[in-house]
Amino acid sequence: MLQKYSYSPKLRTGAVVRDIPVTDAPLPYFSLEDGVFSYRMSDDACVYGLGESVRGINKRGWIYEGWCSDDPFHTEDKRSLYGAHNFLLIDGADRFGVFFDYPTRITFDVGYSDPSLLTVTPGKMNLDVYIITGGSLKDIVREFRSLIGKSYIPPLFAFGYGQSRWGYVTEQDITAVADNHEKAGIPLDMIYLDIDYMDSFKDFTVNRERYPDFEGFVKRMRSRGFHLIPIIDAAVKREEGYSVYDEGHEKGFFCTDENGEDYVVGVWPGMSCLPDFLDPEASAWFGEKYRVLTDAGIDGFWNDMNEPALFYSEKALSAAFHDIKGYEGKTLDALSYFSARDVFTRLSNSQKDYESFFHNAPEGRFVHSDVHNLYGYKMTESAMNALKKLRPDEPTLLFSRASYIGAHRSGGIWTGDNHSWWSHILQSLQQMPGLNMCGFLYTGSDIGGFNGACTRDLLLRWLSFAIFTPLMRNHCAIGNRSQEATAFGDTEAFRHIIELRYRLIPYLYGEFLKAAENDEMYFRPLSFDYEDDPAAREIADQLMVGDRLMIAPVYTQNAGGRNIYLPEDMNLIRMSAGEITCEPVSQGRHYVSVPLGDVVFFSKGKLPLADPAKNTASLDFDRLTYIG
Ligand code: NOJ
Repeated sequence: MLQKYSYSPKLRTGAVVRDIPVTDAPLPYFSLEDGVFSYRMSDDACVYGLGESVRGINKRGWIYEGWCSDDPFHTEDKRSLYGAHNFLLIDGADRFGVFFDYPTRITFDVGYSDPSLLTVTPGKMNLDVYIITGGSLKDIVREFRSLIGKSYIPPLFAFGYGQSRWGYVTEQDITAVADNHEKAGIPLDMIYLDIDYMDSFKDFTVNRERYPDFEGFVKRMRSRGFHLIPIIDAAVKREEGYSVYDEGHEKGFFCTDENGEDYVVGVWPGMSCLPDFLDPEASAWFGEKYRVLTDAGIDGFWNDMNEPALFYSEKALSAAFHDIKGYEGKTLDALSYFSARDVFTRLSNSQKDYESFFHNAPEGRFVHSDVHNLYGYKMTESAMNALKKLRPDEPTLLFSRASYIGAHRSGGIWTGDNHSWWSHILQSLQQMPGLNMCGFLYTGSDIGGFNGACTRDLLLRWLSFAIFTPLMRNHCAIGNRSQEATAFGDTEAFRHIIELRYRLIPYLYGEFLKAAENDEMYFRPLSFDYEDDPAAREIADQLMVGDRLMIAPVYTQNAGGRNIYLPEDMNLIRMSAGEITCEPVSQGRHYVSVPLGDVVFFSKGKLPLADPAKNTASLDFDRLTYIG
C-alpha cells in the first residue's frame, strides 16, 4: 500500500510520476513534532536505502544528509555525497518504505544520536512524504519504483568497457589509448573525453588545435569500434562573443542574484554563469546545445560539476582578497594562521553562495538553497529531453554526477571522485543496492580510483568486481599515475578479466533490462532474496546480481581469497587465465581461494556465456554456451 502525506510543498520536484491523492489518515510509524519525524526502531531493524551514501548497506548507526555535495573525500565521516536519495526501507518489527520528497537539505539520523531512534529533519515543512507498506522487501521497492517511474536504459555499447582519464589532452592521447588496448587484445567500447577536449573549458566547443578535425576523428574512431564520450559541465564561461554565454545572458537563462544580474561563479573556465535548469525554457535551450556534438557523431555524454560545484563566487573571491590583506605583516599564531589559510579554501561550495542566487521555476522564484538538490537532476533531464529529439532513433548514453530521485529516468550516475583505496572497492559495492532502490540502475564507480595512486593488484581486484556493474569505466584524475589496463606491464590478466565482462553481457544486460522493465533491483543485498535467513541479513560484502548470480569480490590487499556465505547450494564459477570452470558448493560458510587475476562468482542454474569479443558490436548473442 502506498500513501501520500503532504506538508505544503512549494514546488513539484518531479520525482514521482503517479498522482496519488493525499490521505487524511494519520501518519503511521512516525511521530511529528517541531518539524522532526521520529520513529523508534526495533533492536533488530535494518535500515536500507539512502542511495549514494557512505558506510554499509545497513545505514544504522550514522547520520546522513540529503544534500548534493561536491566532495572528493569519500571517507566514512561524510554525511552526503553527490546525490540526494531520500528513500529508506526499514525492516524490523515494522517493515515499510518511506520517501521524503524534499528539494533541499534534510537530515537522517539513523540511530546516531539515540541508537534506537530514526529522526528525519527537513529544514522547512515543505515536503511530501510517501509511505509504502505490505509484502516483501522487493515488493516495497517495486511499489516505490512504480511511483518514481521507469529507469533509464542505455544503449548496449554502454555495457562495454570504458577508459577515461582527466589528462588525455589531444587526439593523439586518445588514439594511444585505442592502440594500446587493441595491441593488448583488451576489449574496449568507449573512450572518454574529459574537460581538455574543450576550448578553454567552454561547453559545446572543441579545441581545434588538439582536435583539428574532430568530426573526422569521431568517425574514424567509430569505424575502429570506439565511441567517444565527452564531458559537459554545468557552468558556462562568461565570455562575450562565446555564443552559449551570449544567448544565455540575453535570454535571461542564467541564475541571477537578488538584483536580477547573472550570478557569477568560478569553475574550470574561470568566471562562469549557471544555466537555470529549473526554468523550462532555459532547460530546453541548454539541451539543444548538445546538437553541436551529436552532429559530430557523438552518441554519449557525462554531465559533471552539477551539484553545482562552485570553486568561488565572483563576490566572495574579491572579499577574500580584501580579507587576506589584513593578515599581511602580522605575526600569525596557529589559529590566525589557520583562518588565513581558510580565507580561500572556505570559498568552495559555500552555503552563503547557495543562498545568494535564484531560479525561475514554473511555481515562482526560488533561492537556490531551497531547491539545491534538483540542480543536477534537472541538468540530466534537460540533456535527455533534447537528446531524445536530437537522436530519435537510438538511445544515447548519459550519466551525471549530481542527482535526485527522478534523474534515474533520464540517465545513470557515477559515484564521483573516489580514491585508489581498497576500502573504496567495498564502498562501491555497498552503494549499489541503495542506488538501485532509487531507480539508478546504470551506475558504477571510477575503477582504480579517481584520486591517488592505483596499483596493479588494486586494479585487478577492482575490475573483478566492476565487471558486474552496468557502468564499467576506469577513470582517474590528472597528475596521477597511469592506471589503464595496459599501464602495468603484463596485460594478460587484465585482458582475461575484461573479456569475461563481455562474455557475461548477454546475462548482465538481460538482467538489467528486466530490472528496468519490472521496477526491480539489479543488485540486491542477500537479505532481499533470503528474508528468512538471519545470516544473510548480516552479509554486507556480497550481492545478488540479477536472478541467478551472486558476487563476493576480494577487496583487501594481499588477500589470496576470502570467506563467503552461501545462502543455498550454488555453483562456484571460476575464471582462471581465461578458462572458465564450474563446481557445486553447498550452502554455508566457506573460505574460497581467489589468486590475483582469477575471478570467482556464484550462480544458481545455468548461465549463458558469449564468445569472447573485442567490443559489444561484435558480441554474438546467437552463439551462447551455458555453464552451471
Ligand atoms: C570532477 C569529476 O568528478 C571528475 O571525474 C573529472 O575528471 C573532473 N571533474 C574534471 O573534469
